[in-house]
Amino acid sequence: MTSAVLWAGRLGKKPEKEAFAFQSSIDIDKRMVLQDIAGSRAHAAMLGKQGIIPAETAGLLDAELERIAAAILDGSLIIDGDAEDIHSFIENVLTERLGGAGRMVHAGRSRNDQVAVDFRLYCKEAVRAIEGALNEALNALLDTAERHAGSIMPGYTHLQRAQPVTLGYHLTAWACALKRDAGRFADALRRLDECPLGAGALAGSGLPLDREATAAALAFPRPTLNAMDSVAARDFALELAAICAIAQTNLSRFCEDIVLWASEEFKFINLAEEWSTGSSIMPQKKNPDFAELIRGKSGRAAGNLVTLVTLVKGLPYAYNKDLQEDKEALFDSFDTVENCLRMFAGMVRSACFDTERMRAACMGGFLEATDCAEYLVRKGMPFRNAHETSAALVRECIDGGLSGIAALPLARLRAHSPLFDGDIFAALSPEACVAARQVTGGPAPAEVLRQIALLRGP
Ligand code: ARG
Repeated sequence: MTSAVLWAGRLGKKPEKEAFAFQSSIDIDKRMVLQDIAGSRAHAAMLGKQGIIPAETAGLLDAELERIAAAILDGSLIIDGDAEDIHSFIENVLTERLGGAGRMVHAGRSRNDQVAVDFRLYCKEAVRAIEGALNEALNALLDTAERHAGSIMPGYTHLQRAQPVTLGYHLTAWACALKRDAGRFADALRRLDECPLGAGALAGSGLPLDREATAAALAFPRPTLNAMDSVAARDFALELAAICAIAQTNLSRFCEDIVLWASEEFKFINLAEEWSTGSSIMPQKKNPDFAELIRGKSGRAAGNLVTLVTLVKGLPYAYNKDLQEDKEALFDSFDTVENCLRMFAGMVRSACFDTERMRAACMGGFLEATDCAEYLVRKGMPFRNAHETSAALVRECIDGGLSGIAALPLARLRAHSPLFDGDIFAALSPEACVAARQVTGGPAPAEVLRQIALLRGP
């Protein structure tokens, strides 16, 4: 019974089983069952208030929909996989249970506005869950960064050691990207937060619907402005898929760093055993699979975005059945990003860092050369000359087999520039180089702590 179609009055024949299953969406849209019920409750109550259906019928519908939701939640009502979609299923259950009253619920609406409202409600909840996971990941990064605000490590460009920074600074850089992802989700939510219910198939309704009332009942600040836009638009889904793809791409970069750091060559990070896996053949292996998998899943998020953009491109207004394909891709992006963020948070929190090895990696590669040039600039030398002087010192060290500019005696330094004094040696340690870079946004520990405090704020 629950697999009865809503359009049987027009078409005497149903597609054969396989064809019917092909066009059905219940496997995907059953995830929106509670949103569908909430939408129907708001709609039924409004129909009653507006006198479109008898008040007692509205009451019956509301009570039954509440029972249906409870039965879904406690598992006593199983969603029929043979139904066409979740909207048909719920309407059919209502009609099975209430008879004539159930047949009144669809006045003034279409599955086109129904699916639009369900989808938006679902997105709002999914984004809230992702925001929770984003916060978990952000806090894991910021807590670790705070502990390591003074832990010296090399910063890289071109994957070559560039300048000394701190682990706290590096992790805070990741946190900045996550914070922007959170901002993007919040922005997108504000735009999609309008209620399409009452838009009907595409042209609203001649019945005296109160769209403000259903919007308010469903906690939307307002109804959508234009009924045709309400059922045709999916830019909210594209936007969310894009944000998921961006967030996942950010994660993939953090994870790439982690994979590198976990290698024997770097050995900066020691991932917890619970957050690593072994090899079936090589007994010695401890692999950063979690980081690799998070990195790999960015492909899925990017793919889902391409799926959605391609799906919507060139669709004529208003609703087309193509749009039924939108949910699977976006739901997959939601699941992927939320799971990856939670996994990332756990992996980061449990990791240990070899701070001695990180500091040691700052030695011998002339990472102090920029700071040496800036020392000369502070003493009045034009930067281009200072760059040349520092470069000449680096070459002299390399030729003489010395591992750092500070290994040269003061007389040699002064032979390059009389601006060098005894204070140069202390200025070239990695700690001094980092401490000097107190500029806004820089890696000096106090400055990084300021950045962390801001990132913890709203
Ligand atoms: N299952 C459909 C979807 O997800 C619901 C809307 C169906 N509307 C229609 N005119 N066939 O888009």
